[in-house]
Amino acid sequence: MVPLLEKASPDARVITVSSGGMYSTPLTKDLQFSESNFNGTEQYARNKRVQVALTENWGETYKNKGIGFYAMHPGWAETPGAFREAKDK
Ligand SMILES: NC(=O)c1ccc[n+]([C@@H]2O[C@H](COP(=O)([O-])OP(=O)(O)OC[C@H]3O[C@@H](n4cnc5c(N)ncnc54)[C@H](OP(=O)(O)O)[C@@H]3O)[C@@H](O)[C@H]2O)c1
Repeated sequence: MVPLLEKASPDARVITVSSGGMYSTPLTKDLQFSESNFNGTEQYARNKRVQVALTENWGETYKNKGIGFYAMHPGWAETPGAFREAKDK
């Protein structure tokens, strides 16, 4: 998408929707959950932390292109996704 984003420069921005849930786990390179039994809640937290690191990486990789890269936590909202997650527990 970078070529398209460059066309929208300097107002182009990519906003990654992460989660405060990421604070429950450190950044890991083990994206396959290979060291222990899979845990969906833990994997969600890991992915949310990786999203923030990835967004920082994009910002560094594509600096000086007039594209802003941001990661944010949307707060807590009773959405179908959150409802599904609560029901699965
Ligand atoms: N709700 C919260 O309290 C909360 C808290 C922290 C972080 N978040 C984050 O906020 C974001 C939105 O969550 P939500 O609670 O709004 O969940 P949601 O109700 O499940 O909504 C997810 C949205 O993503 C779309 N989507 C899913 N897979 C997609 C794909 N492969 N390609 C394109 N669109 C796709 C869905 O589209 P369809 O409707 O067409 O399926 C839906 O509109 C997530 O990243 C979540 O981790 C939410």
